[in-house]
Amino acid sequence: MMTISFTSIQNILNGDFEGELVGIKGWVYRKRESKGIIFMVIRDATGIIQCPVRRDSSAWADAEKVTIESSVIVVGAVRKDERAPGGFEVSTQQLKTVGLAEPFPISKDQSEEFRRDVRHLWLRSQRMNNIMRIRSEAMTSIHEFFRKKEFIEVSPPMFISSAVEGGSTLFNVKYFDKDLYLTQSAQLHLEVLTSSLEKVYCVAPSFRAEKSRTIRHLAEYWHVEAEQAFATMDDLMRLEEDLVSYVCQKVAKQRKKELYKLKVDAKNLAEVKPPFERITYDKAIEELHEKGFKIKWGEDFGFDDERALTKEFGKPVFVYAYPKEIKAFYCKMYKENPKLVMSVDLIVPRIGELATGGSRIDDKEELISRLEEFGLKNEDYDWYIDLRRYGTTQHVGFGLGVERLLAWMLDLENVMDTIPFPRTIRRYYP
Ligand code: 4AD
Ligand code: MG
Repeated sequence: MMTISFTSIQNILNGDFEGELVGIKGWVYRKRESKGIIFMVIRDATGIIQCPVRRDSSAWADAEKVTIESSVIVVGAVRKDERAPGGFEVSTQQLKTVGLAEPFPISKDQSEEFRRDVRHLWLRSQRMNNIMRIRSEAMTSIHEFFRKKEFIEVSPPMFISSAVEGGSTLFNVKYFDKDLYLTQSAQLHLEVLTSSLEKVYCVAPSFRAEKSRTIRHLAEYWHVEAEQAFATMDDLMRLEEDLVSYVCQKVAKQRKKELYKLKVDAKNLAEVKPPFERITYDKAIEELHEKGFKIKWGEDFGFDDERALTKEFGKPVFVYAYPKEIKAFYCKMYKENPKLVMSVDLIVPRIGELATGGSRIDDKEELISRLEEFGLKNEDYDWYIDLRRYGTTQHVGFGLGVERLLAWMLDLENVMDTIPFPRTIRRYYP
């Protein structure tokens, strides 16, 4: 018997197997009958290919019975055919049904809501397959970027005993006989590690008990965070813009096919380059007033304000030097104007805030008095104050949400569609 080489659909579409007998393993994506031929379209991880079955073939009886989403093994000869999607087809000679599928609940015209309800099945779609491939590429490129910049990857804890970003979005967890929280941000722990490794980063889940339903909030999201000792606000903004540009360019280069299928113009992504715009909070407020927005100095930007600010530039914008009242306890004040803190948000068109970062308080007394102003207990943060006791440095860092980055890059409607199993106040199944 002839040996059959099993290969991926992508390799067949690349033209590597023309005229040869091949085997593919996958799932039935579509099936229709026309003029005595059953046209199966088979999908595997890499793509879809047409596999016609002729009436006189021994595979006919099985092809008649096989249902959409059944798992199958197909053996046949590769033919070039202009009419077939992708330009090649496999003329089926043998068909083995591995798992016959029950009637598949997802068909063409169902709503996005329904697709999220059956996310475990919708993940099989070409759309989610392409998004997940791009997500993987983005993750890889984030790690590549930091390694190139000689940042050390570290692993922060998920159980934490004190808040980073305020109490209102903390998830409580029972921890033996104590009450702890799930982490909102690795920042404070990364700060600790700067005293040893100087430049550190992590990509890890963060948890937020977000009660509101928006297109950009999840209860569990993937957080890219970095922290650097002996560094300035300028170093920080450069790092952030270099990272975002690196990811966009890498995805544009490595995932052309997937971008095309998602109708995203790879050229636009390739054009995301530093430097990004930089404006102060004061200037941003002025611009919003000119546009007729009612926001007052001292208030935080809402989603609409952020959208309006980025619309103007059409590209990512850094807004920095915020009133201290609207930022976290750890933000360092400007010496020349202590009303303002060295905090910077990176905002992008349509999604708004993509990252928050800044320079951290490096003076012990200043930190202690800020903790007091926030009603936070010194003893809960004693380890964090220790950093300022033993060889403090001016250090900066930021956190960026992976799902927001992807939703922006891929022009997706909701961050939920960038993560395989989104978690929100009402979604936790499966
Ligand atoms: O702005 P945030 O809350 O800042 C921090 O946590 C800092 N401690 C980070 C740091 O300096 N290391 O969160 C940072 C980013 C946001 O800009 C946003 O992109 C993302 O995390 N993010 C969320 N993404 C999805 N769902 C949510 N509920 C998010 N909350 C924040
Ligand atoms: Mg923020």
